[in-house]
Amino acid sequence: MDVLEAMEARQSTRAFKPRNVEQTDIEQLLNSAARAPSGVNSQPWRVAVTRGQTKQRISDALLSARKEGAESNPDYSYYPTVWKDPYKQRRVACGKALYSALGISKEDKTRQLQAWENNYQFFGAPVGLFFFIDRDLNKGSWLDMGMFIQNVMLAAIGHGLATCPQASLAEYPQIVRDILGMDEQYLLICGMALGYADPSQPVNQYRLDRAPQENFTHWFE
Ligand SMILES: Cc1cc2nc3c(=O)[nH]c(=O)nc-3n(C[C@H](O)[C@H](O)[C@H](O)COP(=O)(O)O)c2cc1C
Repeated sequence: MDVLEAMEARQSTRAFKPRNVEQTDIEQLLNSAARAPSGVNSQPWRVAVTRGQTKQRISDALLSARKEGAESNPDYSYYPTVWKDPYKQRRVACGKALYSALGISKEDKTRQLQAWENNYQFFGAPVGLFFFIDRDLNKGSWLDMGMFIQNVMLAAIGHGLATCPQASLAEYPQIVRDILGMDEQYLLICGMALGYADPSQPVNQYRLDRAPQENFTHWFE
């Protein structure tokens, strides 16, 4: 598969087959992802690969924190506190498309909550990745992390795998760090579900559109 096909094929996958992912596939895709550029080749990425009991402990702990109403305390603000257009409209369209694919009505808050809580189960994926960055690094290294994380998603496609990047998994970073024995020096950027997509599930059968380049590009001669 060429790189343009992989970019086209990537989509956030929210239902996975119970099939295990080979360790060698994970190692290879992480090595490919590490070809990402980074300022002065600083390679700021740090990844935790969770499977089996460790992944389950994280799922259970995050779900309990949510159910107990614990205040989320992410290491950084991913989303704005006040949404304005065009981002606001896109956010609304994103939620509508997801709930419509799942057959959940606007009024059905119970099923909406259940769908959201599926995040903490990695949508049934057998592998949960967590991306960390050293807190002493600057914003530039966060750009590098973004490139690395996108590379992970594209390399996963090269291995026949699917992903969903998940900010939701970074809402309680200390819970994740404690379970992984990760030093507080490392900030949690996001998690990611990794596994084999289940294409029979309606939640994997819709695509969100994108504004075409003429909407966001200015040309100069
Ligand atoms: C850093 C990051 C965090 C995200 N967090 C979540 C999340 O917690 N849960 C979720 O279902 N989707 C999450 N998404 C997926 C976005 O909703 C998705 O990328 C967007 O709607 C576009 O859809 P697509 O990825 O299928 O093209 C996240 C995406 C990114 C890049």
